[in-house]
Amino acid sequence: MADLGPRVAGLPGASRCFLVADSGLPPEVVDRVEAALRGAGCEPSTRVVHAGEDHKTWQVAGELLGDMAALGLERRHPVVALGGGVVGDIAGFVASAYRRGVPIVQCPTTLLGMVDASVGGKAGVNLPGPAGAGALKNMAGAFHQPVFVLADVEVLESLPERHLRSGLAECIKHAMLCDSAPRRDPGLLEATRAALLAWKGRRPAGEALAALIARSVALKAGVVEEDEREEKPAGGRAILNLGHTFGHAVETAPGSTLLHGEAVGLGLIAAATSAASLGLVGAECERLTRELVEHAGLPLAINGLSPATVRARMALDKKVVGGGLRLVLPCGPGRVTLVEKPPEEAVLAGIAAMLAPR
Ligand SMILES: NC(=O)c1ccc[n+]([C@@H]2O[C@H](COP(=O)([O-])OP(=O)(O)OC[C@H]3O[C@@H](n4cnc5c(N)ncnc54)[C@H](O)[C@@H]3O)[C@@H](O)[C@H]2O)c1
Ligand SMILES: [Zn+2]
Repeated sequence: MADLGPRVAGLPGASRCFLVADSGLPPEVVDRVEAALRGAGCEPSTRVVHAGEDHKTWQVAGELLGDMAALGLERRHPVVALGGGVVGDIAGFVASAYRRGVPIVQCPTTLLGMVDASVGGKAGVNLPGPAGAGALKNMAGAFHQPVFVLADVEVLESLPERHLRSGLAECIKHAMLCDSAPRRDPGLLEATRAALLAWKGRRPAGEALAALIARSVALKAGVVEEDEREEKPAGGRAILNLGHTFGHAVETAPGSTLLHGEAVGLGLIAAATSAASLGLVGAECERLTRELVEHAGLPLAINGLSPATVRARMALDKKVVGGGLRLVLPCGPGRVTLVEKPPEEAVLAGIAAMLAPR
């Protein structure tokens, strides 16, 4: 984190910045970052944002934009996002909109933020869904690439273990598509399996965690470079949605208390089962996926939801094209494929795999 001050201050015209800090961070982390920025010649104006998906709203983004205007921030004054994926997504969105775009620096402080949310330039907020339904995830947003991302694994020491494990789900996702990405990393699936096994029952940390993060980031960056705006009809950035169409449906269902990564872990299981029901993979892939999710200490099933509720929420996914679902499914070890309008039985098989027997 020591590098953050000089690197932000070194951006052209960055005599001031807007620091959006996560309310969950130990105050001394925020103090240290402020002091480092100030010491390097960049005066921060700090706003603390309440973390958690409920706060990833249009209203919070609007308040931040109002603050920026009231502070008289200018075009070259960057926004610095210091926090988890929620803070990163809101801060990135605000930076994309203020004065039609100011630089954004991402400084992720959760594992999920490091391996996924801070990389690739997607930013946004959730919008209220139809009456009685949960929020619509990331329904208003922008592509706004960070000028740089700075991830320091030491900051993860204060992260509650449940959130650390939630981030592992995105590492598993990257491992499951390691051979389909433009910058292939064929050994990542096995390396992830071994790392998860070693961490079973103890907190992921140290060089092994830093190495897994670096490989995960490289893999995602390679995918984004090839298809920044998710425009390629097949493959491209869309492959990063592996597990997410199923996962988002359970994450945003009314009453859900799942963290994003916990929902993604379930979504990965659903995707493997769906793929098996289509004959794209054998039972081995389902078994391995479950094993990875289990070793990561993530939930293997969710209680209290009906298949119909989950199916209805999947139809609300913003990746739905022309009314038909579009699923990214495994088709071999480390490989994925895009399935347009999958047969209903395959979708329902995936859903059933996530739900605990009632
Ligand atoms: N933009 C993208 O491409 C992208 C990709 C994946 C996920 N996301 C988004 O990321 C969000 C989830 O991110 P998340 O998992 O980081 O959750 P989060 O931002 O809610 O953070 C999790 C919790 O950890 C706390 N926290 C953060 N850093 C901490 C630290 N170092 N020590 C102690 N506590 C800390 C936060 O206050 C919060 O309570 C979702 O909204 C998801 O949609 C975006
Ligand atoms: Zn995700």
